[in-house]
Order: sequence, then structure tokens, then C-alpha cells
Amino acid sequence: MADFLRVMIIDDDAEMRGNVAEMLIAEGQEVVACSDHGSAAAELARAEQPALVFVGIEQPLPRHLQTIQFLCGLLVDSWVIAYSSLTEITVFQQVVRAGGRILLELPLDAATLRRALDAASSQLKSSSMTPPGRAGRIISVIGQKGGIGKTALSVNLAAALAHDTKSAVLIVDFDTSFGDVGLALDVESPTTVAGAASDIGRMDAAEFRASITAHESGAFVLSAPGHVGEWLHVLPDDLEALVTTAATLFDYVVVDTPGAFNDAVASAVAVADNLLVVTSMELTSAKNTSMLLGILIAEGYPAAGSVVVANHTWADTGLRITDLAPVLDRDSIWDVPFDAGMRMASQVGKPLVLLDPESLTSRSIRALAQRLANDPDHIERRKLLRAEAPPRRPGFRQRLRSALTRANLAQAS
Ligand SMILES: Nc1ncnc2c1ncn2[C@@H]1O[C@H](COP(=O)(O)OP(=O)(O)OP(=O)(O)O)[C@@H](O)[C@H]1O
Ligand SMILES: [Mg+2]
Repeated sequence: MADFLRVMIIDDDAEMRGNVAEMLIAEGQEVVACSDHGSAAAELARAEQPALVFVGIEQPLPRHLQTIQFLCGLLVDSWVIAYSSLTEITVFQQVVRAGGRILLELPLDAATLRRALDAASSQLKSSSMTPPGRAGRIISVIGQKGGIGKTALSVNLAAALAHDTKSAVLIVDFDTSFGDVGLALDVESPTTVAGAASDIGRMDAAEFRASITAHESGAFVLSAPGHVGEWLHVLPDDLEALVTTAATLFDYVVVDTPGAFNDAVASAVAVADNLLVVTSMELTSAKNTSMLLGILIAEGYPAAGSVVVANHTWADTGLRITDLAPVLDRDSIWDVPFDAGMRMASQVGKPLVLLDPESLTSRSIRALAQRLANDPDHIERRKLLRAEAPPRRPGFRQRLRSALTRANLAQAS
């Protein structure tokens, strides 16, 4: 018999839920929750954190597949098993693409159910024995100016990673003054970055995941606090611990940062596996970006893991991407075109990559998400000219902070 697992059943047909529950109980499993595909399913899954979820899928298929996709984002260590009277290969493919592990054919029989339980319990056992470690990548979105599209890029990238690559994604707002990630995604998270940073040491993985809100793209959101005062008790070390711990629970942690340099930005840079250095197509932004890149290079930040993103927040500023590359001394720059729909998307709280996934701007951001998923160590596409990148020097965060503060002061004077 398979090991004892906490199981949830989601099916719109109440009689079928009862039948599946009876069969699972007969196999020695604990059925902790039963629900239809409505919003109660999400609440129950979040509260119960089942190891295994059985999902009945019939027409309308897209709605039922959405349940699977949502559950896989929410319960990253659990298994989702679908069962259906629709067993065509295309249905199976869609189930797998949504994150489901197995599609069982109705009517269910005890032997088939037992095989599925055995497969799930042996897989779950081996993954629970793997020591916790950093599995996910931390992608920090930085830029030395306000209004250049850091938040727009962060939320669209998080949505594209969650939606297109079916990864578990968390977006964290490090903007200590005007954080607007929650607004841009129309999500109100009960737990804020400041709260989570103070409590992370006391929470276990399940509590942490249950405390944050999921966006419809599948990405989870940790918004900035509504009151600036809440940041006062948060230390840079807490922020770094929050993000590195989150990276043990999520495939990607996207960190949005403010335009003015502070401790939170230094922390975001210090812990990042990938840096997206955003510039708009304005001379002032290009100049600040050049200064920022110079400091990152001097501090030994590996260029291959960072990419300059030229974001066209205006239709035409007269500055072209080909002018920018030599100024910034980069072989390649990621071009995100202007799209009037981007402003509208932030107004309605829905990322452009979901509203208009085939627009040129969405395609550029979705391609960037794919690149981060496929070849994250070489997102800049540049072959390293030096045999070895210089090692990151100790005290990186402190020196980066003072170097950039000096640069900011020089610029202001
Ligand atoms: N590619 C684009 N095309 C058109 N508009 C854009 C594009 N990228 C961003 N915008 C718009 O530019 C404005 C500023 O973007 P955003 O708020 O993301 O900047 P930011 O760098 O996060 O600013 P801050 O540092 O003040 O938080 C927003 O209205 C956003 O919708
Ligand atoms: Mg912003």
C-alpha cells in the first residue's frame, strides 16, 4: 500500500467526489478536503496544503485546466493527478502542460488508483529527503531612475514566467517608498514584504506560502507595505534572508526595486543570480545606466548573468538602440518596444503579456522569460572575452551602496 498522504479532491460532480473519496479512504489515504472548481478550492488548498490533489476534468476544459495550473503554482511540492472521461492524447498533453502529473481514465478502478498513489508517494518521499537548498533563481530588476519601466517589466516578466514556463514564481516589491507591484497586478496581499521579512525566520514553508496571494497568471505576490513606516524595522539582512529563503520554495523570485539607490536595492543586487538593468531611451537614463554598469563591473558582478533592457517608455525619443550599445559598452541590449497598451494594462491591473500576449512588447518580454528559463547564465549572449570573470569582492553590498550613493550625490550637485 502507498504511504499515507493528505489528499484533496476537486470535482464539479458531488457524487463523483464522494466515490473518489471512498476509494482513496479504502486505500488508506486521508481525504482532507473536497470542493468543486470554484474559488473555495483555492482557499481549501491553501489552508490544507495537501500532498496530492485529484482533479476531475471535463468540459469546459480551459476552466478545469486553469484549476490544475493554479494548484501547481500554489502547492509546488505536491502532485496533481487528473481524471476524466476525456482521454484523447491532446487532453493528456494539456493536463501535463498545466502541471498535472497523470491523467487517469474514468471509470476509476482500484488497481489504477493504487498505481497512481504508489508513483506519487515514492516521488514525494524522494523529494522530501532532498536537503532544502537554493533551487530557484533570483532575478532583480534595477535601474538608476524612476519611471523607466522597472515595475512594468517586473510584473510582466513574473506573469510570463508563471504563465508560459509553468514555473512557481514569486514577485517581491523592494520599493521602500512607492511600491506599486500590488496595484499593477490588482492584488492585495495580506502579508507585505516588510511583514514577511520580519517573520520569515519564524514561518515554515507551508505557512509562508499560505500567507501570500496568487495572481491569476499563477505568480505569487509580496507587495510593499501601505505605510512607509513599516519599513523602518526591516534590516537589509532580513530582506536578503526573505529572498534567499523564498528561492528555496519558488523556481523564480523576481525583485522589483525603486529608482533611487538605497539599502534595499543593494540587497537586491547582492543576492541576484540575474540582474536586469533597465534603461529608458532617454539620455539621462542612459548616462545613469552607464555609471551603474561601471560600478557593477568594478565590483566583479558577472556580466554574463546580467542584461541591459532598453525599455521604450515613449514612442520616440530620438535615441536609438544602436546608439546605446557603444555608450554602455555592451554587445547586446534587450529591446522592449513602446506599446501604448502598457499604460492601460497598469491602469486595469493586468499585465500586458496576458492582455495582449502577441503584441511586439509582450513577445519581447516573453522571449526574455524564455531566455531566463533556458540559458540564464548567458542572458546577455556575450561570449566572455576574459577566461575568468573576476571574483565578486567581499563586502559587496556595503561598497556598492557607498559607490552609488557617491555617484548620486555627484550627479545631484
Ligand atoms: N514599453 C513600454 N511602453 C509604453 N509604456 C511603458 C512601457 N514600459 C513602461 N511603460 C509605462 O511607463 C510608466 C512608468 O513605468 P513604471 O512605473 O514601471 O516605472 P518604474 O521604473 O517602476 O518607476 P518608479 O521607479 O517610479 O517605480 C508606466 O505608466 C508604465 O505603464
Ligand atoms: Mg516602480
